[in-house]
Amino acid sequence: MRSSEHAFMQPQAKQDVENAVLSCVIFKMVNGFRHTTHGVQMNFRCLDCGSTFGRLRADLQCDACGGLLEWVMEREVTVSSLLPPPQDFNLWRYSALLPPTEDEKIISLSEGGTPLHYAENLARSIGIDELFIKNEGKNPTGSFKDRGMSVAVTMARASGARVIICASTGNTASSMAAYGAKAGLKTVVVIPRGKIAKTKLAQCAEYGARIVEVEGNFDVALDFVRRNSGTDGTVVMNSVNPFRIEGQKTAAFEICDQLSSAPDWLVIPVGNGGNISSYWKGFSEFMSIGAISSLPRIAAVQAAGASPIVDAFKGNSETVKFYDEPETVASAIRIGRPANWKRALSAVRESHGVAVAVTDREIIEARKSLADREGILAELASASTVAAVKRLASENIIGKGQTVVCVATGNGLKDVAEHTETIETDTISSSRELGRILTSI
Ligand code: F0G
Repeated sequence: MRSSEHAFMQPQAKQDVENAVLSCVIFKMVNGFRHTTHGVQMNFRCLDCGSTFGRLRADLQCDACGGLLEWVMEREVTVSSLLPPPQDFNLWRYSALLPPTEDEKIISLSEGGTPLHYAENLARSIGIDELFIKNEGKNPTGSFKDRGMSVAVTMARASGARVIICASTGNTASSMAAYGAKAGLKTVVVIPRGKIAKTKLAQCAEYGARIVEVEGNFDVALDFVRRNSGTDGTVVMNSVNPFRIEGQKTAAFEICDQLSSAPDWLVIPVGNGGNISSYWKGFSEFMSIGAISSLPRIAAVQAAGASPIVDAFKGNSETVKFYDEPETVASAIRIGRPANWKRALSAVRESHGVAVAVTDREIIEARKSLADREGILAELASASTVAAVKRLASENIIGKGQTVVCVATGNGLKDVAEHTETIETDTISSSRELGRILTSI
């Protein structure tokens, strides 16, 4: 098993988990399922009549009465047989590299410590050996924003802020609303009307934010917000806030710890350019303290209809030509005037990386392949990274033997239900029809 999900465990504990997982893989079908572990037979007890059986029938029911069965644990277990309780995996484990805070004043919802999945099925289909997905969708509100928000909201509250505010394509807003709620601050989110995923809007409402809509795009919303920055105890929580960058850089530390080195490539979606800047800062800091001995190349990914940074990179330009009307199906990165364009472009150039624009069609296909080959549902914006890896591998820019990490920045549950019209289903009215489907697949 090549998964780094347990990478924070002690080596022995990690081995135990892997053995336990492997030992459960021996299934044999003899008139039902005979379950054995290391050759030891398992038993099952009926919850209704109490009969016990050494095997499970194929229909999983009790032989005697048709009741539900439970597995019977027959081994001696003491507390000492259990794995040690996990340590706190949240980002504050890196507090030595974060701005100073008083522990008891930290606003945390247990962000960070997200899994790094080894995506072997997808890697095989792309034709590379080592592809990993950093699953930031497992953060408390479903995106990487929670890392930055934990630090920035902690700092805002410590500085006596009354109101925290952001412009957003949805994830910053829902994250800020949650952390603001926890901190007892007033929260105001400014969003482009009708242009953010419904789940993100609903999250903001549930967390109790004041929701303000603008006619126009994210860039208009951010302009309005920045003009109100600092007035009447109001602190802006977009990635122009330096503490956001500090929190988000911890994901780079985690990747290095999970792989025991830096990857060859980090592939990351870019909207406002804050997150790519955070990662590059994180990798650079880990290098400077000697935690890693090489830096990754950064591949910045934008959607073709909203790709000012890619244009500047390709045109070898020192400045960025903004898009007045950015357009892409990946609403999270529908941004034409990235506030962090300078440092985003520097991250790509300093790392000897690349910037790539992928089409909406490539993004939609990539999300599907990540979900149906790896079981990871990511936001469209996040899936752009998988589309980019396909492209870069086919152009031999990413080499077959190189280690690649894609950042899945947001959980696909956020935007997957936006378009359900095209989903194909079977409608049935009898169990026989279901049987026909089962034999046909
Ligand atoms: N991926 C997702 C899922 C995002 O929500 C964002 C940005 C990005 C990537 C790009 O990150 O802006 O730091 O370059 N979302 C912001 C928001 C704009 O308002 O939620 P970035």
